Amino acid sequence: MNKEYIRTPVYRMRSLVAFCVLVLSVTTCALDNGLMRTPPMGWLAWERFRCDINCKDDPKNCISENLFKDMADRLAEDGWKELGYVYVNIDDCWSSMQRDSQGRLQADPDRFPGGIQKLASYVHDRGLKLGIYADLGTHTCGGYPGTTLDKIETDANTFAEWGVDMLKLDGCYSNATEQEKGYPLMSKALNATGRPIGYSCSWPAYQGGLPPKINYTQLGEICNLWRNYGDIEDSWDSVLNIMEWFMNNQDVLQPAAGPGRWNDPDMLIIGNFGLSVDQSRAQMALWAIMAAPLFMSNDLRTLSSEARAILQNKAVISINQDPLGIQGRRLLKEKNGIEVFWRTLSQSASTLVFFSRRTDMPYRYTTTLAKLNYTEGNYKVYDVFLGQVMPTLSHMTAFTVSINPSGVVMWYISPMENEGTRPEEEGGEYPNFRRKYRVSSHQHPINFPPNFIL
Ligand SMILES: *[C@@H]1O[C@H](CO)[C@@H](O)[C@H](O)[C@H]1NC(C)=O
Ligand SMILES: *[C@@H]1O[C@H](CO)[C@@H](O)[C@H](O)[C@H]1NC(C)=O
Ligand SMILES: *[C@@H]1O[C@H](CO)[C@@H](O)[C@H](O)[C@H]1NC(C)=O
Ligand SMILES: *[C@@H]1O[C@H](CO)[C@@H](O)[C@H](O)[C@H]1NC(C)=O
Repeated sequence: MNKEYIRTPVYRMRSLVAFCVLVLSVTTCALDNGLMRTPPMGWLAWERFRCDINCKDDPKNCISENLFKDMADRLAEDGWKELGYVYVNIDDCWSSMQRDSQGRLQADPDRFPGGIQKLASYVHDRGLKLGIYADLGTHTCGGYPGTTLDKIETDANTFAEWGVDMLKLDGCYSNATEQEKGYPLMSKALNATGRPIGYSCSWPAYQGGLPPKINYTQLGEICNLWRNYGDIEDSWDSVLNIMEWFMNNQDVLQPAAGPGRWNDPDMLIIGNFGLSVDQSRAQMALWAIMAAPLFMSNDLRTLSSEARAILQNKAVISINQDPLGIQGRRLLKEKNGIEVFWRTLSQSASTLVFFSRRTDMPYRYTTTLAKLNYTEGNYKVYDVFLGQVMPTLSHMTAFTVSINPSGVVMWYISPMENEGTRPEEEGGEYPNFRRKYRVSSHQHPINFPPNFIL
């Protein structure tokens, strides 16, 4: 079925520059700083550690240089860095309540006695990167000094001098007019420092996340990632609420993403208190479908082995990090509470996620790949969380997956016969794929881990 898509003449654009990807025949370009060609990965303080500044009574959990050093140590020593989790990111409440005599932001002297520059060196010495937080407006959300329009250049220069590698620019205490000026200005100011600094913009989250207030073409040109929607909380309700908003708006959001420019549904809360093991797998799977940045906000010092196994699952990370960077979509929302998500991947592969909103018992869902509009042929299937190769399927084979309540079954699917298709070439098409997606050249082959054998 859908042979007409395969026969569609290949539309070639030889003058494509390296930072552009053809998605649905629309050319979009990413912020030209060469960074974050796949969704950034690492650790971010906010959801778990918030604005805890009480180092006297809560020294292990307060926002201080020790917390970030601890997390850097864990990322470097516990196998995270090798999997791509390289950013150690500071959020709100790191700074002093006053700028210094020259008007520059400065770290709180009691909680960051070594200063941010020293912390950056500590992080860099371990092969990691340091992210920092600022807020376009009079104050940060936590009430610390904000970055008003006249301070943008100063703050960009300060961060670059300190050796910071990423900036999250929040939007509390500013209005739409200031945001429209400030977010592009900061992008220019970061570029002018000459230091590659990944740029996360909270702008859309403050303006409802949708056109016409938000222009995703413009965002992709000035930011590497952007928060579209509200903050995640440590609960399954929060994960569901975020996921539902992203999927309801997928026609707008999905084409906005690509190498160097990502929608950000917010942090991974896996390893905290709010999610069961099944719900944790579901967050990881759905974030991979969404090509979401993977910033864990948890305590890496005390993580359970179940949480660690999910967050370090090489197959789901490889899917999240697919070099094509094409975000996935929800295909089906069944009346029985089952939803099916799908994302196209390099090497003619794809991923399917079967998700259950049910609250009774594991549900046996039966379908065929043909019903999901896969084209004729045989497919190899790898179950991501089972860690097993499944029986080969033809597009017509009826199969049944058993999906736990608020859980997922996630598959990596790869066609067995793909002679005649040359997906890594410019204009290559994806045979297992029912929509007319084409991609530019300059893509790297997906680097599946050695245990990921199909
Ligand atoms: C600044 O922008 C130019 C042009 O878009 C780009 O070539 C350069 O790599 C950027 N530099 C940094 C540090 O982001
Ligand atoms: C936005 O804030 C600026 C600076 O505080 C102010 O001059 C301007 O009037 C505000 N605009 C709107 C639309 O509220
Ligand atoms: C959105 O931004 C792009 C790139 O900056 C621009 O070319 C386009 O005109 C904008 N669209 C709207 C509707 O403002
Ligand atoms: C399959 O394709 C048909 C025809 O384009 C469409 O109506 C249907 O919604 C698609 N099914 C899925 C699961 O995407």
